[in-house]
Amino acid sequence: MVLLGVESTAHTASVGVVGESAEILAIASDMYRPPSGGIHPREAANHHVEVLPGLVAQALEQAHVRPSEIEGVAFAQGPGLGPCLRAGATVARTLSMLWEKPLVPVNHCVAHVEIARVLSGLDDPMLLYASGGNTQVIAYASGRYRVLGETLDVGIGNFLDKLWIALGGTFPGGPAIEAAAKEGRELLPLPYTVHGMDVAFSGMLTAALALRSKGASREDIAYSVEATAYSMLTEITERALAHRHAEAVVLGGGVACNERLRSMVRSMVEARGGSSFAPPRALCVDNGAMIAWTGLLALRAGTTSSVEESIVQPRQRTDLVETPWRRG
Ligand code: ATP
Ligand code: FE2
Repeated sequence: MVLLGVESTAHTASVGVVGESAEILAIASDMYRPPSGGIHPREAANHHVEVLPGLVAQALEQAHVRPSEIEGVAFAQGPGLGPCLRAGATVARTLSMLWEKPLVPVNHCVAHVEIARVLSGLDDPMLLYASGGNTQVIAYASGRYRVLGETLDVGIGNFLDKLWIALGGTFPGGPAIEAAAKEGRELLPLPYTVHGMDVAFSGMLTAALALRSKGASREDIAYSVEATAYSMLTEITERALAHRHAEAVVLGGGVACNERLRSMVRSMVEARGGSSFAPPRALCVDNGAMIAWTGLLALRAGTTSSVEESIVQPRQRTDLVETPWRRG
């Protein structure tokens, strides 16, 4: 079985093709980078509309498959920015009708989780999903992925992006903060906000900007923000592991590209006698292959959608969708 997946929830338009055993046959992506400031949803959507047809052609060529060999068309139904979601859904509906292949809606968060899980080879790991809009500790139970802990305000990636832009940088902030942090020397005090298995970042944003106005360097701020924010994530992941008597962790989402976060989680898990895994960076950030793979799992379990039912769901939470392929 070969599936094509379309991703367009936020900044990145991407088309992926995957095979039966999660072979990544193609990923063709194009990220919208605003000239300054954050993402304007309609401008990002216009970008996606322009680039998606070309990305479909590119992905088919990379994968060496003809449209007749594609057995289903998956797309990210939510969560995400409405106009961006509609751009991807429109392309997926068109391909599905044109090729006469089933249309498969996929939850974007579940897709981050599933691609990390299959690549890890672990059957039932705990998941730390850290991305732009989301920060969640997730475990599977009774037909769905359950959110054990999450951010109470902004996603960690959005926090990093906002901070970096306020410090004079450009989007995306996460990788730039990672580079700047390597030059940081001093650990500055920042609010460490953990409530049970939840976290919050807006207080840290205010405090970091206050430090900057008192003369702290961008490098020291970056270093301190990484140390504090990633400790918070590591702590809630450890608490979730302890409660579930689990020992394996998989990371996913764009912020899981971060080497410091990976190594902090790895140290914590190894100290408990367990193991952790993070996918290659191209599969941590938004990509069409994770949508195609989750679509393949869903299609195998019998999930398809009519065009009428395929309406996008900007607020579709991780724990709102059934994952029938994980039963049994
Ligand atoms: P969501 O899954 O919430 O919809 P998203 O659509 O914003 O997230 P992702 O590609 O999963 O997109 O994540 C993007 C985020 O990852 C951005 O906020 C970016 O700054 C962050 N990011 C990317 N690389 C790194 C890195 N090396 N260190 C920290 N953050 C990073
Ligand atoms: Fe994402």
